Amino acid sequence: MRTLIRQGRIVTASDDYVADILIDGESIALIGRDIAVDVERVIDAAGKLVLPGGVDPHTHMQMPLAGTETVDTFTSGTAAAAKGGTTTIIDFPVQQKGQALTEALDVWRAKLDKNEPVIDVGFHMIVSDLSAGKIRDIGSLAGEGVTSFKLFMAYKGSLMVDDETIFEALAAAGEHGMLTMIHAENGGVIDVLVRKALANGRTGPKHHMTTRPPLAEAEAVHSAIAIAEMAGAPVYIVHLSATRSLSHVSDARERGQYVYAETCPQYLFLDDSVYDLAGFESAKYVFTPPARAREHQEALWRGLAFNDLSVISTDHCPFCFVGQKDLGTDDFSRIPNGAPGVESRLPLVYDGGVRAGRITMNRMVELLSTAPAKLFGLFPKKGTIAVGSDADVVVFDPNRTEVMSVRTQVSKVDYCVFEGRKVTGAVDLVLSRGVIVYENGMVCGRPGHGQFVRRAQHLGVLPGAPSAGPIRIS
Ligand code: URP
Ligand code: ZN
Ligand code: ZN
Repeated sequence: MRTLIRQGRIVTASDDYVADILIDGESIALIGRDIAVDVERVIDAAGKLVLPGGVDPHTHMQMPLAGTETVDTFTSGTAAAAKGGTTTIIDFPVQQKGQALTEALDVWRAKLDKNEPVIDVGFHMIVSDLSAGKIRDIGSLAGEGVTSFKLFMAYKGSLMVDDETIFEALAAAGEHGMLTMIHAENGGVIDVLVRKALANGRTGPKHHMTTRPPLAEAEAVHSAIAIAEMAGAPVYIVHLSATRSLSHVSDARERGQYVYAETCPQYLFLDDSVYDLAGFESAKYVFTPPARAREHQEALWRGLAFNDLSVISTDHCPFCFVGQKDLGTDDFSRIPNGAPGVESRLPLVYDGGVRAGRITMNRMVELLSTAPAKLFGLFPKKGTIAVGSDADVVVFDPNRTEVMSVRTQVSKVDYCVFEGRKVTGAVDLVLSRGVIVYENGMVCGRPGHGQFVRRAQHLGVLPGAPSAGPIRIS
């Protein structure tokens, strides 16, 4: 099947020009002015932006947590992602304590086989147990195309690991060309704050926020960066939310350390007033780290603009308000942590970032597609519009306005954290490897079209630095 996308304004991380794109099968065959060839399908993109498909490196489909499981399957969650202009997600299999890492991977491969995805899916791994020689398994993950993993410094008693494990894992990751992702919050301090709050009768969802202060994050970010430096390995801080945490990342990058961080739309567009809602409503906003005071937002935008923050992911972690969030009606610490977001990232960032003058269009593409593709071993197959790359392409109308709502949501979750928010800039059409998966407001991609993507090793690239260039981290 050959498709011609005509006259679109192609925006990549580095370029911005009007041209035609010829897609042959799954990949981009030619880019040029007035391409005259016979094709089966023509897409008129005049007046539209043509962007590389989004790469969302932080989602949780079908993830067990707090006695329940996220409601999106790999089928529904990837359909929702497609609607939001994302053509690749990287999701997190979870290693249970005592389980071999390869066994955990098999469990998630089986989930993916049973609930086939609409778009491409890669895996990281949440590592919770490196006892009894399991550290040797880390290299075998890389052999399976799983070249990054996440460690938790919080969630005491379940996912949290100690400094010894973090140090050893970072060192092993460095040896195998893998990237270590860290959930940086001081789990010990938070555990005490939670116990004290509950003992004093502070049981409502607001106290999810009061017991997870920004300093608990900043302390852990500082610690993770120092341990990574001692291990001589790159590190990636997930869902960074606060000013002081960002300063630690900026300082480390200034020193020349390979430290990367992502933030998420919930930290850019929501603030801590969401914890003052009536009744149990604030439980919808129980995600970790919590939404912060408004003053953190501009610092995060500056971090994104000036490259101290490398990626905007979603941390899509959908639990229904009814039947799941209400597990914590009498005790906020039992509310499953997480919020949906996989289908709103691009319109939100375009509207609140590009249109608001906070970041350029090229930078938006870099943050949502190119940088995650590079950091997680998918580039140049994913993350750009270039001859030979996968034909993962978004046709985006910069002038159409939409109102975000649970009523138009594809995700199975029963609420939208941006309910009623008006955004200008909307996804018209999405191609995943040359196949239209979203058009005319409908997901038309077939479950099973999406494939598991094996990722390459991490190359340490410090985008924007004078000495930038791919160097092998070992
Ligand atoms: O609240 C969140 N973010 N839940 C998902 C797990 C995590 O820490 O990323
Ligand atoms: Zn986390
Ligand atoms: Zn997460």
